[in-house]
Amino acid sequence: MSAIGLAVIGAGYWGPNLVRTAIGTPALQLEWLCDLDEQRAKAVLGRYTTVRATTCYEQVLADPAVAAVAIATPAASHFDLVRAALEAGKHVLVEKPLTSSVADAVKLAALAERSGLVLMCDHTYCYTPAVRRIRELIRSGEIGDVQYVDSVRVNLGLVQPDVDVLWDLAPHDLSILDFVLPEGTVPTAVAAHTADPVGTGRACLAYLSVWLSTGVLAHVNVNWLSPMKIRTTVFGGTRRTIVWDDMNPPARLMIHDRGVDRREADSLAQDERRQALISYRLGDIWVPALPEREALPSVMAEFASAITEGRPPLTDAGSGLRVLAVLEAASLSAEQDGARVAVSMGEIK
Ligand SMILES: NC(=O)c1ccc[n+]([C@@H]2O[C@H](COP(=O)([O-])OP(=O)(O)OC[C@H]3O[C@@H](n4cnc5c(N)ncnc54)[C@H](O)[C@@H]3O)[C@@H](O)[C@H]2O)c1
Repeated sequence: MSAIGLAVIGAGYWGPNLVRTAIGTPALQLEWLCDLDEQRAKAVLGRYTTVRATTCYEQVLADPAVAAVAIATPAASHFDLVRAALEAGKHVLVEKPLTSSVADAVKLAALAERSGLVLMCDHTYCYTPAVRRIRELIRSGEIGDVQYVDSVRVNLGLVQPDVDVLWDLAPHDLSILDFVLPEGTVPTAVAAHTADPVGTGRACLAYLSVWLSTGVLAHVNVNWLSPMKIRTTVFGGTRRTIVWDDMNPPARLMIHDRGVDRREADSLAQDERRQALISYRLGDIWVPALPEREALPSVMAEFASAITEGRPPLTDAGSGLRVLAVLEAASLSAEQDGARVAVSMGEIK
């Protein structure tokens, strides 16, 4: 079968990673790199290449050799670029966040569905070996029922010109939650507190509480001002607890057979009732072996397979939409000093 013709749009910080991995994906044939700055696109491609550089998106979409586009431009441009690509009959891989609003995302999801085209969100972390294993551990029942999630993603980050820290970093945590938690789990309400202590004009740190349809409370802390890079998420379960420390390659995942149990009062003998109902489990901690593998090649391979097999990708428009719904509600909550705001998913769940 011949390779799928691809164009990458955007040659800034992230686009070159899409170019590099697309070139390394046998199922894809990179045809174009498009950027408003042609010199930047040419510099990314280098001198010895058959991939063409252009500033003209229309030219890319008019090329019958292009069956798919991968978009790595700023979030505000995603809606127009994705819509134009879908209307031109191209499959689309788009960077997070899918668009700037739930309403726009609903339109794009419906357009892709009507056109029989793949619309995939690059929720990169979902394709890492660690997150895949967390999904298996949770969905197989290995850790029991999830009781809470606590996620910290802080570092010295670039203050983005167009989005605040919630819209820049929290899509990672939210897409991971969407991917690993039991199927059908959806966010129902959020409360967000944000701050801009440096006076940049946008929130540089945020504390986000997310209530889920299972009754679980998840918490996400994102911050661009921390001199220390911390990437830690804890998934507390009734049987075990997963601690994911992405900054610790030899032991990214630790499964703790430790936690707090509560015995039902009815199950206790009369003379035991006076004793504490709370007991502590202090069992082993084990570290699963994980392959060290970059996520983006798996993103590209999944995009190509979804196109070839005519099926939704693992991180489809629905997952992009659920992430956006939380971000939108979180911004509203932050404007209202952290008030609890219901998450509205639009038409598509
Ligand atoms: N998946 C990840 O882990 C990850 C990491 C970083 C960034 N991103 C996402 O990638 C996207 C781009 O971020 P970035 O940091 O690379 O931004 P950037 O500003 O560094 O680069 C964007 C590029 O897009 C070009 N561009 C803008 N509008 C265009 C248009 N209409 N047509 C063609 N080119 C256009 C700009 O000239 C620029 O070169 C964002 O959505 C961001 O959230 C994802």
